[in-house]
Amino acid sequence: MDIKSKMNWKFSDLKGGLFDTVTKADVGEGAGNLMAQGYDIMAWADPFFPDPSIPDSVKKTMIAAFEDGFSSHYTMPMGNADLRRVVSKKLWEQNGIKADPSRNILITPGSDSGLLYAMMPFIGEGDEVLIPDPSYPSNFLNAKLCGGVAVPVPLREENNWQPEIDEFEKRVTEKTKMVLISHPNNPTSTVFRREAMEKLCRFVIEHDLILVSDQAFEDFIFDDIEFVSPAVLPGMWERTVTIFSISKGIGLSGFRVGYIVADDHIMDVLYGGTVNVLGATNTAAQFGAITALEDKAILKEYYEIMDKRRKLAYDIFKSIPGVTVRLSESGFLSWLNISRLGTSAEIVSYLIREAKVVVNEGTPYGAQGEGYIRIVHGCFKDEKRAVNAYVRIKEALTKLAKEKGIK
Ligand SMILES: Cc1ncc(COP(=O)(O)O)c(C=O)c1O
Repeated sequence: MDIKSKMNWKFSDLKGGLFDTVTKADVGEGAGNLMAQGYDIMAWADPFFPDPSIPDSVKKTMIAAFEDGFSSHYTMPMGNADLRRVVSKKLWEQNGIKADPSRNILITPGSDSGLLYAMMPFIGEGDEVLIPDPSYPSNFLNAKLCGGVAVPVPLREENNWQPEIDEFEKRVTEKTKMVLISHPNNPTSTVFRREAMEKLCRFVIEHDLILVSDQAFEDFIFDDIEFVSPAVLPGMWERTVTIFSISKGIGLSGFRVGYIVADDHIMDVLYGGTVNVLGATNTAAQFGAITALEDKAILKEYYEIMDKRRKLAYDIFKSIPGVTVRLSESGFLSWLNISRLGTSAEIVSYLIREAKVVVNEGTPYGAQGEGYIRIVHGCFKDEKRAVNAYVRIKEALTKLAKEKGIK
């Protein structure tokens, strides 16, 4: 039977690695098998992975959440009321967003599911979604899963990967419904500057579009770069859906807790479908998330670690012949231009063989990612182990550069 012919076209060409080779780090058993063989995985945007890293304060809350027994039950689909209150406080203090905990916040099982869910009410057959390229691979696929068309809008390294409105204007059509950004951007780590963001928001308003802003990486912004949440810019609140996560800054990816923030009229629809699409988020994890957001010492400590790590990684990677790299502006990702040494697929395979590390090819992040690789320098709790992996990457690429006569 040709089972694919019975499937919805939006799903029928998805590949999970069962029948053909899929090299993506997050598909099938690929990364798990390599890890079991002793390779270092620097391809998952998961702070300190694979080392245990639950802060003590959060651990205590979680243990209590199990001991009192309540965690065997659902919370309301929109999320635990205390967590929504803590999120509301955080949104005001960190983002300048005024969000009513009962009307504007939805707790989601991780932000990946929130990201797709936020698009579903807006995107139907043939609707076009403008997406900066490079950006988070799910953005392109999500547009298609909703029946829409992902329209990549190139960003350029020469312009520090900032959105260029001319490029958006060139691609807008009658079918354009949405702009979808990762801010700060994954994989480049760049923060969209106020001026670029204001222009982008004016473009969104002029063309009567919706903006989805995925801010999963917003917690570590370095060098005093201003971080602007587009939802607070004039005219944007009613047309912006903002996505957040506790996976990146607070490093609790295994808890699977994220949240969506939007205006009442959007949120009423999202609340209406939550049970059907998302269910309710894990109860114990929501208790843990309350402490994780309240205990400000966690972010402070991790911020300092990641600031140090990006500098260590930059100092090591910048001296590789034939490679260029910028000091990361946010998060825990390094984005290396390796185009003089080979294609992004060639270099990733080479590093698996030569350095026993798994990093990401640039191409899943969009066509502009060819010639780049992404390295999660925020992996491992142990700094020595992390630096050892950066040095192995450097040594392997330096050897390759020498073989190619690049100095
Ligand atoms: C830009 C971006 N957004 C969202 C996510 C999803 O994170 P989570 O579902 O763990 O909140 C990721 C994960 O890598 C990401 O890189």
